[in-house]
Amino acid sequence: MSVIRTPAKHFAPLAIGAPEPYRSLPVRIERMIHFIPPHNEKIRAKLKDTIGQVDVVLGNLEDAIAVGEKEQARAGFVSMANAFDFGQTGLWTRINCLNSPWMLDDVTDIVAHAGNKVDVIMLPKVEGPWDIHYLDQLLAQLEAKHKVARPILIHAILETAEGVKNVEAIAAASPRMHGMSLGPADLAASRGMKTTRVGGGHPDYGVLADPSKDGGPRAHYQQDLWHYTVGKMVDACLSYGLKPFYGPFGDFADGAACEAQFRNAYLQGCLGAWSLHPSQIDIAKRVFSPDPKEVAFARKILEAMPDGTGAVMIDGKMQDDATWKQAKVIVDLARLVASKDPERSAAYGF
Ligand code: GLV
Ligand code: MG
Repeated sequence: MSVIRTPAKHFAPLAIGAPEPYRSLPVRIERMIHFIPPHNEKIRAKLKDTIGQVDVVLGNLEDAIAVGEKEQARAGFVSMANAFDFGQTGLWTRINCLNSPWMLDDVTDIVAHAGNKVDVIMLPKVEGPWDIHYLDQLLAQLEAKHKVARPILIHAILETAEGVKNVEAIAAASPRMHGMSLGPADLAASRGMKTTRVGGGHPDYGVLADPSKDGGPRAHYQQDLWHYTVGKMVDACLSYGLKPFYGPFGDFADGAACEAQFRNAYLQGCLGAWSLHPSQIDIAKRVFSPDPKEVAFARKILEAMPDGTGAVMIDGKMQDDATWKQAKVIVDLARLVASKDPERSAAYGF
């Protein structure tokens, strides 16, 4: 059983003067969380264009930022947060993990100097609800101190065996929770999985077809190593009204495999993935925007059953209250995508 504050206190600010927690998450399209190294001036200089191309810009302070560059990355993030108008594009940061020497300064500096700009803090290596409670309280104190108007949300990375074991309690830990991403690299290490890849499949993880009568070669079907964890994360997130995301795909040269991995996550319920390379932005847009043919069919279902009840046949396929709900998921997502993406809006015929 996960232990949470009493319902009345669950939505009370954790510090006097901190903003009220959201009762439901702001509606935002977040097909890709685009990672940038904020200490890199060249990349910061191109941000105006990047902001127009992506749904979320994330300034990364954790892994991939060398020890000697941690302070510059933090300062670079504060500077980019204040230098640009992000409009409908989300501004996130991935801070260092709780047991690192940088985490406290990451949070205190960022809330002090960019607290009214940042939408979401991504917290790595979350192991249980206690990690969320700590950041929740600290953020409330800092929001109150620096007069931050909107609550800064927390997005957990699911990347330790203990975190996966506790995923439901993490989802329930605070109304500040935005969602979760799978962290396949750290998770593989934490679990002792024998792969050096960052996400994606593995040629040895699969099933062998039954032997054929003629003794011919047997087909080997590769399976998705991340299926179980993504499914567990999606159920934990959706049951608490949070958003699940696939995380990173490390082989930038293999766009097709990246697309296949993102699509598995999309079909299982995820709303986006990380883009670590510009080539992955379009892949994420393609995958996490519903297919126009699927949208057209879903609209037919909604039109054929205006009050969402009963049973009808469309193109030889049975539709009822449940398929009406499935259709609504697709059409609602398409409308959200269309609100930000004029090209797709036209393809959907809105
Ligand atoms: C991401 O942080 C990962 O460890 O895969
Ligand atoms: Mg990681």
